[in-house]
Amino acid sequence: MPEFSGCSEMILKWFWNDFEMILKWFWNDFEMILNGFRTDLKPIWTDFEKLFRRRNAGMQMTDTDRNMLMWDETIFREPEIFELDYLPPYFPHRDEQLDAIRYALKPALRNVRPLNCLLYGPPGTGKTSAAKKVIEDFLPYADHVIMVKVNCQIDSTRFAVVSRIYRAIMGVAPPGSGVSFNRIFEKFIGKLIETDRTLIVVLDDINYLFYEGNANEVMYSLLRAHEQYPGSRIGVMTIVNDPAVIYGFDQRVSSVYLPEEIEFRPYSLREIDDILSDRIRNGFYPGVVSDDVRSCIVRHVAETGDLRSGMDLLKRSGMNAEKRSSRTISEEDVEKAYAASRTVYHDRLLETLSAHEKLILEIVEKEGEITAGDLFDRFSEKADIGYTRYYEILNKMIAAGTVTADFSGKGVKGRTRLIRPGIFGNSASGKTRPSDRKITDFRCGIRRKTDSPADMFRRILPGTGRPADKKESCF
Ligand SMILES: Nc1ncnc2c1ncn2[C@@H]1O[C@H](COP(=O)(O)OP(=O)(O)O)[C@@H](O)[C@H]1O
Ligand SMILES: [Mg+2]
Repeated sequence: MPEFSGCSEMILKWFWNDFEMILKWFWNDFEMILNGFRTDLKPIWTDFEKLFRRRNAGMQMTDTDRNMLMWDETIFREPEIFELDYLPPYFPHRDEQLDAIRYALKPALRNVRPLNCLLYGPPGTGKTSAAKKVIEDFLPYADHVIMVKVNCQIDSTRFAVVSRIYRAIMGVAPPGSGVSFNRIFEKFIGKLIETDRTLIVVLDDINYLFYEGNANEVMYSLLRAHEQYPGSRIGVMTIVNDPAVIYGFDQRVSSVYLPEEIEFRPYSLREIDDILSDRIRNGFYPGVVSDDVRSCIVRHVAETGDLRSGMDLLKRSGMNAEKRSSRTISEEDVEKAYAASRTVYHDRLLETLSAHEKLILEIVEKEGEITAGDLFDRFSEKADIGYTRYYEILNKMIAAGTVTADFSGKGVKGRTRLIRPGIFGNSASGKTRPSDRKITDFRCGIRRKTDSPADMFRRILPGTGRPADKKESCF
């Protein structure tokens, strides 16, 4: 301890003693704090160390290495978002249509027979999804209302349609073979009346019921049920690509079927961009799809306006990127996916065609473009069926979009039809790319300037219209 004198010595002594104490005190606490720090901050420090090491290693990585997707990683945040049956919470640009459907069906909530409605528009414009959305809205009122959605592409006979309805109402499958359509119909109507409920039947892609002559019978039974079975309440929502389908109903049906017509026009480029951006945001991790790649996808989708193909394109592009172990989707991934989706679409289409339809498609794809008359000549070299049957088959293919028909202005009465490959063109040779055609070409059946909707319908679906019209040839 140093020697001091007087007052200053006293102060310094006091300070020195206290300072020593403070120092000791601080030293003990400091040691304790430091130990606490060591234990508490250790995990943080370890992480920091790891990050630091990774950063150092990263500095030695090339850009390609850094973009590598590890085998146990994925760029898909929610893969189910790209599945076809996914119903998105964000469903923009269809408010008007959703309101119109709700308005038509709302009376059912008060146990009054709802208005019938017809949803029409090109493929992939959200018709089925809009119907599903409204069904979802109505579910809380399921006590009063039974909603049955029938996919007519799958259930294409009248028996299949009533079986589907029967299952929804009765909760069990209908009795097996030997039971008539009328018997099954009577049974579920009886149950409907007994439980005082209203039935809404959604007939999706109803055009498929026409091909085997089931449409009129099904519609007639549903629409006129209240006449035969008083107390029954049934509303029918039909969904179709082309509104001309209603001209295919016979007098018995058309006199009672005056539906609310709800149009689903093709989406604009901006709307497609908005819808796909939402899927990209929710379906992929951030940074996977750049703005340029998104624009490339949107452009492809806008060629057909078919959003279903858009979802497929997103999914396939993502899978292509993962195949390359990339964290980002490139334009090449999109182009490859686009080419593949055309081929897959084509192969899937072939599986659904009959032998005669395959033969017709084969000739049309080989030629790229052929008049309906020449097509018949080529077809009849290989197939032993008459002109009338050929005409029916061709019309069905036009209605389904497998091939397209346009009027050339040449030939007898200037009405020669030019037949070309359908929606995805000739996937093998790429002769007819979708981009070569306009969206209106993808509608089933092309309306001539002078056509009334009824005329067009008679052309696109066989066996309909007045007998005099049926004799008239379009070739
Ligand atoms: N407005 C929309 N918002 C979000 N997704 C949509 C919209 N319209 C269509 N889609 C999506 O596009 C795809 C095709 O729609 P879908 O209802 O099957 O069309 P359609 O029945 O007219 O052929 C579905 O995956 C659907 O979720
Ligand atoms: Mg649909």
